[in-house]
Amino acid sequence: MRILLTGVNGQVGSALKPLLMSLGTVQAPPRGELNLADARAVEAWVRHHRPHLIVNAAAYTAVDRAEQEREAAFALNAQLPEQLGCLQREWGGVVIHYSTDYVFDGTREGPYTELDTTAPLGVYGRSKRAGEEGLMSSGVPVMIFRTSWVYGLHGRNFLRTMLRLGQERAEIRVVNDQWGAPTWAGSIARGTMEVLATVDRSVSSENPWAEGWRGKEGIYHLTNGGATTWYDFTRRIFELRPECRALVLPIPSGDYPSPVQRPTNSRLDNAKLEKVFGVRLPHWSKALEDCLAELPSAMHEVLLTENNEG
Ligand SMILES: NC(=O)c1ccc[n+]([C@@H]2O[C@H](COP(=O)([O-])OP(=O)(O)OC[C@H]3O[C@@H](n4cnc5c(N)ncnc54)[C@H](OP(=O)(O)O)[C@@H]3O)[C@@H](O)[C@H]2O)c1
Repeated sequence: MRILLTGVNGQVGSALKPLLMSLGTVQAPPRGELNLADARAVEAWVRHHRPHLIVNAAAYTAVDRAEQEREAAFALNAQLPEQLGCLQREWGGVVIHYSTDYVFDGTREGPYTELDTTAPLGVYGRSKRAGEEGLMSSGVPVMIFRTSWVYGLHGRNFLRTMLRLGQERAEIRVVNDQWGAPTWAGSIARGTMEVLATVDRSVSSENPWAEGWRGKEGIYHLTNGGATTWYDFTRRIFELRPECRALVLPIPSGDYPSPVQRPTNSRLDNAKLEKVFGVRLPHWSKALEDCLAELPSAMHEVLLTENNEG
């Protein structure tokens, strides 16, 4: 099996790479080897290597900056997935892709299901929704996993920022009126592998993935279980890492000005994933413990010295 993994240096991509290697030959060109915003380069790469499976973990994820960089956001989040779908369709390959809670406006009362109407609030969310639509319309067998509030020990994310600020500051203010499920990149990678493990690859065809996915293609919500606010998430992080001594104060979103509004309710209902594949990710609090258990003590210095977005 030939697998193309994009975004290998990102949070989800870096968690996926070692796991995907158990399924076949993984090629994971970093940005310097394959610029995914260069449609010609992408076309040449895919036509040459003909991966059975593309796992597209690359994205333009700078939510605020996307308001000024619409073209860059749409190139990665909208045009790229559609192009990957069209290229895979040419020869019978398949695609796994990731999307976001930001396709919703957050006004619903309970958790969002895959059937709920999308209404993104900003450029990032619109570009991700366009990517879902483009990929689905390409006609390729596809699984799109919408996830939320991704964190991990690699890359820029809320957990790392809080671990740093918790040690640097006496007091931090954290938004307490947005609800969602913080989701560990490690859980997303494992959940993806669990879904793949349910696919029957014994069928004899040039690409057994394509046969095995029949009837199961589509969008799935894939987040850690439960829900919380950024404020309570921070408090739990600090409980688990006592060296983070900063006092955590709750604030409303309005006190944290940003160029784009975030959904108040980011909760995604994972029932479809469990019903179709029998896959359920751990509760967010357990996943956080698992993630922090992988934090080597040397990491503290890295966290304190790296250039982390605040
Ligand atoms: N982060 C979140 O909170 C969140 C929430 C919901 C859904 N998601 C979705 O989850 C998926 C994975 O997100 P993530 O947090 O793992 O993202 P991430 O850490 O920001 O990683 C994105 C990856 O895409 C790569 N990339 C971006 N532009 C590229 C280009 N022009 N050429 C080649 N590579 C390029 C980056 O490369 P470099 O390393 O070179 O920059 C990076 O490796 C995405 O679909 C995202 O939309 C994320």
